[in-house]
Amino acid sequence: MSHDETGRPSTVRRVKGFASDNNAGAHPEVLAALAEANAEHATAYGDDPWTTRAEELLRAHFGEQSVSHLVFNGSAANVLCFRALCRPWQSVVCTAQAHVNVDEGGAPESLAGVKLQAVQTHDAKLTPEHVEWQLGRLGDQHAVQPRVVSVTQSTELGTRYTPYELRALAHFAHERGLLLHVDGARLANAAAGLDVSLREITTDVGVDAVSFGGTKNGLLMGEAVVFCDPGHAEGFAFLRKQTLQLASKGRFLAAQFVALLEGDLWRRSAAQANAMAARLADALLAVPGVRLTQPVQANGVFAILPPGAGERLRRDWRFYTWDQSTGEVRLMCSWDTTAAEVDAFAAAVAHAGETARAAS
Ligand SMILES: Cc1ncc(COP(=O)(O)O)c(C=O)c1O
Repeated sequence: MSHDETGRPSTVRRVKGFASDNNAGAHPEVLAALAEANAEHATAYGDDPWTTRAEELLRAHFGEQSVSHLVFNGSAANVLCFRALCRPWQSVVCTAQAHVNVDEGGAPESLAGVKLQAVQTHDAKLTPEHVEWQLGRLGDQHAVQPRVVSVTQSTELGTRYTPYELRALAHFAHERGLLLHVDGARLANAAAGLDVSLREITTDVGVDAVSFGGTKNGLLMGEAVVFCDPGHAEGFAFLRKQTLQLASKGRFLAAQFVALLEGDLWRRSAAQANAMAARLADALLAVPGVRLTQPVQANGVFAILPPGAGERLRRDWRFYTWDQSTGEVRLMCSWDTTAAEVDAFAAAVAHAGETARAAS
C-alpha cells in the first residue's frame, strides 16, 4: 500500500471529504480508552466495570431514573426501541426522510414488525399537526394503531428541533396515548448546537426513548438505547439478546461511551462538526450560483451548486447527491473536519463554478 507525506495510506486520504460523518475514524481519546480497556481480562456480556461506569454516566446525562443498554449500531437501536414500545398491531409515525423509513433496509418492518406511517415534510421535522393527520383511525379495529412518534434529532436534513418543539410533540403524543422516540444518531450535534444538555432535549421535554448515537460522535462503533421512562425498559435485556445485539466483549462498547461522556468529548466532537458546517455554509453563500436548501443547524449542509460544478468537484472531493431531480447535494462535516478542508472545498466550488460558466 502506498503512503502519502503524512504517513497515511493514500487510499485513506483520498476518501476524506464531505460524504458522511460515518466516514471519519474514531477519536484518539476513544482509541486510548479502548487500549486501556484491553489491558486485562474482564467478565463478558456487560458484567464489567466499564459497563457499570457507562451506565452511571448515561444516567448522569439522561436522568437518574433512565435505563440504558448498549448496542452495536444505530439501526438496531431504532429497531429495538420499536420492539420494546410497540405491539404487533401498532405503528410508528415518522417523516418520509427518516432513516428508519429509507435507510434501514426495512428492518423496522421486518424485525420490529411495525408499520411505518411516513409523513411528507419539507425539513424532515414532524409537528403535532402531522401526527394528528395519522390518528384518524385510532380505535378502529381494521386499521393499524399508531403508538410511537419517532423524530430524528438532529434531522436527516441537518435541521433540528428546539426543546419547545419537542415538548409540544411529547405533550401531544402522550395526550393521545402515544410515545415519543428520538433517533438521536446525531443527538450530540443538536445539543451542542442548542447549547443544552442531553437531558434538556430528551428526558426534560417528555421523550420516552432515545437511540443515542456514539458512532458519528467519534466512536469506533456503538450506540445506546436510553429509556427516559424506565417503565418501558422492562425485559429489554432479553429483547437485545434476541435481536443479536448483546456484545460478548461488552467492555469495549462501554469503554468508548465512558470516554465520550465522562468529560466533554461528546460536546467537543459535535461542536467541531457543527462549527465546520457553519463555516462551510458561510463560505458557500459567498459563491455565485450556490443556494442553501435547508437552514444549517447541525453538521450537514444541503445545497444546490452552480450548474456543472458538481461533476468537476467530484474529481477531487467526495460528497453525495441528495436529490437527483434538483441536483441538491449533502455535505457532512465530522468531528475531524478542519477549517482548512472547508476553505479548500469552498474555493474548489467557486473555481468549479467559474470554469463551468466559462465553458458554457
Ligand atoms: C438519522 C440516522 N439514524 C440512524 C443511523 C444509524 O445507522 P447505522 O445502523 O448505520 O449505525 C444513521 C446513520 O447513518 C442516521 O443517519
